[in-house]
Amino acid sequence: LVRRFVVIGQKATASDDFLLDDLPGTSGRLDVLVRSLRPALLTSHGLRRDVVVYLVLLGGPRAPRVVRVDGAAVRFLRPDERSLAVLLKKVLATTVDDMAAGFAPARPGIAVARVVDPMDLILADAPGARLFVLDERGDDIRDVLLDVGRAKQADQDELFVIGDHLGLPDAIVRRLHEAGARRVQVGPTSIHADDVVAVVTNELDRRGDISGLPPSF
Ligand SMILES: C[S@@+](CC[C@H](N)C(=O)[O-])C[C@H]1O[C@@H](n2cnc3c(N)ncnc32)[C@H](O)[C@@H]1O
Repeated sequence: LVRRFVVIGQKATASDDFLLDDLPGTSGRLDVLVRSLRPALLTSHGLRRDVVVYLVLLGGPRAPRVVRVDGAAVRFLRPDERSLAVLLKKVLATTVDDMAAGFAPARPGIAVARVVDPMDLILADAPGARLFVLDERGDDIRDVLLDVGRAKQADQDELFVIGDHLGLPDAIVRRLHEAGARRVQVGPTSIHADDVVAVVTNELDRRGDISGLPPSF
């Protein structure tokens, strides 16, 4: 089973046209998305092979694009924000821009796609996944994960969709609800997207999912 995280960057640039020395100020807050990679994919000394992260970039001239990072195949993922930003810059510099091509490999375990509807592409990439929209007004994720356990539905991938500093676009939320997504919260306080990824990861770890087995990267 695969844990899937989607982080939506409403203004995050889909091109490599940003400064590494001023990532927040020049990239439409791509830094929020870059920072989410660490809690999703890295443990203290290892890589979570059963995690896939989708970064949805809705800003700049090459938008919309989706970068997919697959823990099963990715190599040399470093924990610090600058190294991750350098990696993203290289990936976004690729010339893959064919709207019909779907995900095209850019680096081992990392693919990029340019699409009209990023959510359609992601849902097609995760068929049958149980969908969750992270929302401060949702049901408590602990109760929801317990429900899932009781209903013995623990045999599906789970996909968690998280907004950036601007929240989630209405159209994406509607699309997800139509597809059966549940709104869940990780506490009463609105926190940063990368912290939400860390908390959800921790809830899944505590549920007993096995993830982040010894490093082989
Ligand atoms: C910094 S928050 C967004 C704040 C933004 N000003 C808004 O009003 O939506 C970034 C994202 O993290 C998620 N989030 C933040 N706190 C949360 C919480 N307590 N429970 C569930 N999701 C949360 C939501 O998906 C949110 O869109």
